Amino acid sequence: MAANTFGELFRVTTFGESHGEVVGAIVDGVMPSLPLCEADIQKDLDRRKPGQSPVTTPRDEEDKVHILSGVFEGMTTGAPLCLVIYSTDARSSDYEALKEVFRPGHADYTYWKKYGIRDYRGSGRSSGRETAGRVAAGAVAKKILARRGVGVLAYTVRAAGISCAAFDPNVIENNPLRACDAAAAREMEARILALREEGDTAGGVVECRIGGVPTGLGEPVFDKLDAALAQAMLSLGAVKGIEFGAGFSAADKKGSEHNDQMDRAGFISNNAGGITGGISTGQEIVLRLAVKPPSSVSLPQKTVNIRGEETEIRVEGRHDACLCGRIVPVVEAMAAITLEDFFKRQAAAFC
Ligand SMILES: Cc1cc2nc3c(=O)[nH]c(=O)nc-3n(C[C@H](O)[C@H](O)[C@H](O)COP(=O)(O)O)c2cc1C
Repeated sequence: MAANTFGELFRVTTFGESHGEVVGAIVDGVMPSLPLCEADIQKDLDRRKPGQSPVTTPRDEEDKVHILSGVFEGMTTGAPLCLVIYSTDARSSDYEALKEVFRPGHADYTYWKKYGIRDYRGSGRSSGRETAGRVAAGAVAKKILARRGVGVLAYTVRAAGISCAAFDPNVIENNPLRACDAAAAREMEARILALREEGDTAGGVVECRIGGVPTGLGEPVFDKLDAALAQAMLSLGAVKGIEFGAGFSAADKKGSEHNDQMDRAGFISNNAGGITGGISTGQEIVLRLAVKPPSSVSLPQKTVNIRGEETEIRVEGRHDACLCGRIVPVVEAMAAITLEDFFKRQAAAFC
């Protein structure tokens, strides 16, 4: 497994498995003398942690971060940060029955075929728990970006087939889906709870906006900013699609409608989503992600075991019924890590 590090000059390496002793991240490339304490990181981890509502897994992890290196007297030293989160509520016995059976929609079959060994307890490295390290690293990136005048905001725009009709930033942190429309959020929650009763799960769409990005970030041709953001987002479990700006609706537009015309004040529209030619335009970057319904359903499904014998499976245990609300802080973290890396690359390219 050789791809546990993301970024070139702001580098994040995550470690740990779902039911291992710890998960966390090493962050290299943080400038010295940045004030940093555990509370700066904890607030985002608290947004990601399980057990927050009936639509998320009841696994009761405190997800408390410990900064083990890279900070002296409340300031970063320029040395790598080691951010560690201890697991306190792993119940590996839940997974005993799944030891030899491949769960449909999970990475069980592919990990087994590729490595010949698989940590079946809570999905090991392919678990959503791995993203705790990303969120911790992302909180550091966000803090640096705030000094650069850059802000990242993600929220749910659709879940369980229900779309938001309004955008109210004040409601996002006050509903379990982190949806931007309070009325839609209530409907989403009701529908997801009904699906959970039936033993099923729901997917959705998460939008992310990055404001304050100057013109010029992005490294054509292979490390275009949109290509890098796509890699960052598609490296998250359950993210199955990405679009920027007008996205897939561009396919039905005429060129004259889709073009972002300009006047003396700048761009008149933002169908490009803030990136053209792989370089930021100076407008808001807007992207949307398709989030699949969690694979862990307690309805019976057909599968095979490691000997190739057919069997039936019901995935019981503690799982999310919809991932959108918990994935929002993870999306923000990956956007922030990517952007900070490109700020550093921009500075390095022109000195
Ligand atoms: C924060 C987070 C939490 C997750 N929780 C669950 C879960 O409780 N149940 C589940 O089936 N999948 C969950 N997933 C998704 C799986 O990790 C993912 O579907 C699996 O690794 C297979 O990868 P793929 O969907 O990208 O193909 C979660 C993902 C994230 C990012």
